[in-house]
Amino acid sequence: MVSLKPVTTSVLKALKAASGIDAASLAKQLGQDYAVIMGAVNELASQDLGYFKEEESTEIALTDEGLGYAMNHLPESRLFKLLCDMKAKQVELNALRDKAKSALGMDDKLFFLSLGHLKQARWTSQAKVGEAVQVIVLKQEYEDKPEEQLLSLIAGSGGGLDVRDVPADLKAYVEGLKRRTLVIEKKYTKRSLHLTEKGKKLDTSKVSALDEVAHLTTEMITTGSWKEAKLKAYDVSKPGAHLNAGKIHPLIEIINKVREIFFSMGFTEIRGPIVESAFYNFDALYQPQDHPAREMHDTFYLSTPAAARLPPEKYMKAVAEVHEDGGNTGSTGWGYKWNREIATQTIMRTHTTATTVRQLGKAIEEGARLPLKVFSIDRVFRNEKVDFKHLAEFMQVEGIVIGERLSLADLRGTLVEFYTKLGFEQVITRPGFFPYTEPSLEISVFSKELGKWMEIGGSGIFRPEVCTPWGIKEPVRVLAWGQGLERIAMLRLKRNDIRDLYKNPLSWLRRAPYPRSGGR
Ligand code: PHE
Repeated sequence: MVSLKPVTTSVLKALKAASGIDAASLAKQLGQDYAVIMGAVNELASQDLGYFKEEESTEIALTDEGLGYAMNHLPESRLFKLLCDMKAKQVELNALRDKAKSALGMDDKLFFLSLGHLKQARWTSQAKVGEAVQVIVLKQEYEDKPEEQLLSLIAGSGGGLDVRDVPADLKAYVEGLKRRTLVIEKKYTKRSLHLTEKGKKLDTSKVSALDEVAHLTTEMITTGSWKEAKLKAYDVSKPGAHLNAGKIHPLIEIINKVREIFFSMGFTEIRGPIVESAFYNFDALYQPQDHPAREMHDTFYLSTPAAARLPPEKYMKAVAEVHEDGGNTGSTGWGYKWNREIATQTIMRTHTTATTVRQLGKAIEEGARLPLKVFSIDRVFRNEKVDFKHLAEFMQVEGIVIGERLSLADLRGTLVEFYTKLGFEQVITRPGFFPYTEPSLEISVFSKELGKWMEIGGSGIFRPEVCTPWGIKEPVRVLAWGQGLERIAMLRLKRNDIRDLYKNPLSWLRRAPYPRSGGR
């Protein structure tokens, strides 16, 4: 004995008469919602009585303008009819234009557009006779354009005409109407409904009505009839609907985590300008003024503002001395004439070391208690060609420690603690080079994800040439390290294309897990 909901029985009956009908048409035929029909089909499927097939199809629908013309003829047809009514073989263009305006209410734009269509269809032509342009009628009598047949066919389809139902002799006109934005093409999935062999054989008079209630209605509650109803049991094994609720972006999550690690190590966050002076980005970091990294292909130079605000004169002078002959640092300097104008140029910050180095002057001037530990997580800019590994705008994570008698062992200890907290169990450092640190260490971590060592950042102890101009002298030293953020993010988030972090592919973001608590 088969029992089905009444609506499902009516779908079953309808399918016996019209197997293969699409769900939307059946919904219209039975005066039901699409979702109700699909619910019924699912009920049929659960008893192996019916099923649906999906196919992609394309429909042509009228735009508002197209609908107007479907009812009222195309403007060129109306113009041609007017010409025919004038019963002349040729009409002067300006006279026709005036007539079109008075009789048809056509403005100049529509008039010339329509005339163009008539010429194209070779229903009229034009010739200059003396001073005047004559419109010459080529076609004997008025008839509807094939485009109009197509428009009324689409209008009659009730919402959209399946491209496969366009008659062969009208197919050629679809493109033209699309170009005139009188019709648009819509792609969608059609669901055709079918009965199984079992469904076809089933005698509908033997189907009993299923009196199980799946949804309580207001009426059932107010009349109290729900008390007698047989409620449908919950199937707790079925997955619930997937919710795409808002969440914190995975990259922000990682930034929050890194920030949290710095806090746990006693660091304070600082931020600095994105539009920087060449002075802080390069000169203060003892990079000679002809250093290749300053060149146009790496650094974005700005024309506005044209000049940067610079620190008080005594610091400028001290930095100039260090570059020229080492000043009182014991260094020989770079041995060239330092140029203030070059230092005044404005650029987009190329590294966050431009931000951390600003702390050196502050630390002494404000008499900060040492050790002073600060960090920055911020945007930097380099003129790179963007590809799966490179961005022209990216983030750097950077920390410095200013304190007495700090050593390379302190730097290594700090790095190991930081990277271990970030989830890298093995950290190695190797000698490296940066113009502003001595010694310098390159940092590599072992990536469990990739099963190999990865070079991740740079570090070192700021050179006396960097420290002295700001009044930082032995035994106070400055440890510094920095690295890109996106590399870490790509590993953690398993993205192979760095651009994903900013392009935000929805399918990935929807799958990304929700934060464990409070976004951290
Ligand atoms: N500024 C360096 C970079 O952009 C990283 C670094 C920071 C190196 C601090 C040494 C000390 O790659």
